Amino acid sequence: MKTVLVCVWLVNSLIHIISGSSLSAPEEITGYTGGSVVLPCSCTDGRPILNSARWIFNPGPSTINLGPQQVDDRYRGRVQHSDTPGDLSLVLSRLTVSDEGRYRCEGDGQFRDIKLSVKGCSLFAPKEVTGYTGGSVVLPCYCTDGRPILNSARWLLNPGASNINLGPLDVDDPYKDRVQHSNTPGNLSLILSRLTESDEGRYRCEGGGPFRDIKLSVKGCSLSAPEEVTGYTGGSVVLPCSCTDGRLILNSARWLFNPGPSDINLGPQQVDDRYRGRVQHSATPGNLSLLLSHLTVSDEGTYRCEASRQTYKDIKLSVKGKFDHICPIACQGWGDTG
Ligand SMILES: *[C@@H]1O[C@H](CO)[C@@H](O)[C@H](O)[C@H]1NC(C)=O
Ligand SMILES: *[C@@H]1O[C@H](CO)[C@@H](O)[C@H](O)[C@H]1NC(C)=O
Repeated sequence: MKTVLVCVWLVNSLIHIISGSSLSAPEEITGYTGGSVVLPCSCTDGRPILNSARWIFNPGPSTINLGPQQVDDRYRGRVQHSDTPGDLSLVLSRLTVSDEGRYRCEGDGQFRDIKLSVKGCSLFAPKEVTGYTGGSVVLPCYCTDGRPILNSARWLLNPGASNINLGPLDVDDPYKDRVQHSNTPGNLSLILSRLTESDEGRYRCEGGGPFRDIKLSVKGCSLSAPEEVTGYTGGSVVLPCSCTDGRLILNSARWLFNPGPSDINLGPQQVDDRYRGRVQHSATPGNLSLLLSHLTVSDEGTYRCEASRQTYKDIKLSVKGKFDHICPIACQGWGDTG
């Protein structure tokens, strides 16, 4: 029995020695800067490798060790070896372009060479983007190839001048709640919300080396409204007012009756008692039009449609009695109760 076992062991060892190429690995692998890459290497027959297994970079006189036993400084903390017997595969992390080259997987006196190429991030971004006051805008910027170097992606407003940080790591205070970053690796796009005209400027997208500048224009709201509108007692009237340019209105938008020191609010945020239940606001962004119902003669006067304190239009509302043309005096005010 003993001799049989010894025999089997001998034959096994012989097979291992004779059967030349039992290591399997691809010839070429591509990784991306900032990312990780698996360099696959395994025994075709799945048998364990003795502790002669190792990886080296740049085989030759200036070889660099990648372990498992011995790992050179250059790769320390960046390599991970498989625990599976027979699998020598190596995970290499936080890739840089200087990791490009030839990697050798060695085991049981055999080896395989893998050529690693590392692609950097080629940034794409448009030159100009237009947004609208009160709205959001996407500043698109992404790697068409490769990934940004880890933690190197960032946005700057007015690069070289005020250099305001827009993240993702550092966001300067006034922008904290107004910027959002994409979660997709390689997509550096920035979403900027609640735009004001003062957000206009140059935005720089960086990917750890290359960068792109985007010019952001913010269009405000130019209001359009008639000068005069006529309604009838008891009826309804639309006071039309809308942005001809710019689509969205900041929540500063409001209507006032009798603009001046004793003005009266007609909403949308705040509606005075006098108009409560009688006003309806358009739900369309950029359309501020107001529907005023149950008109009385005392509704006559000037109505101000405001996009902001600086941007407004005044409309003069005349309210005529329903039957003015039939009985100009006797019927005055009849519609008031309707
Ligand atoms: C990148 O992210 C932005 C914002 O999340 C998105 O609008 C855009 O479609 C993405 N672009 C690509 C190429 O993935
Ligand atoms: C704005 O809204 C009003 C009332 O809802 C509507 O009558 C008017 O046609 C709209 N104007 C525009 C420019 O969309």
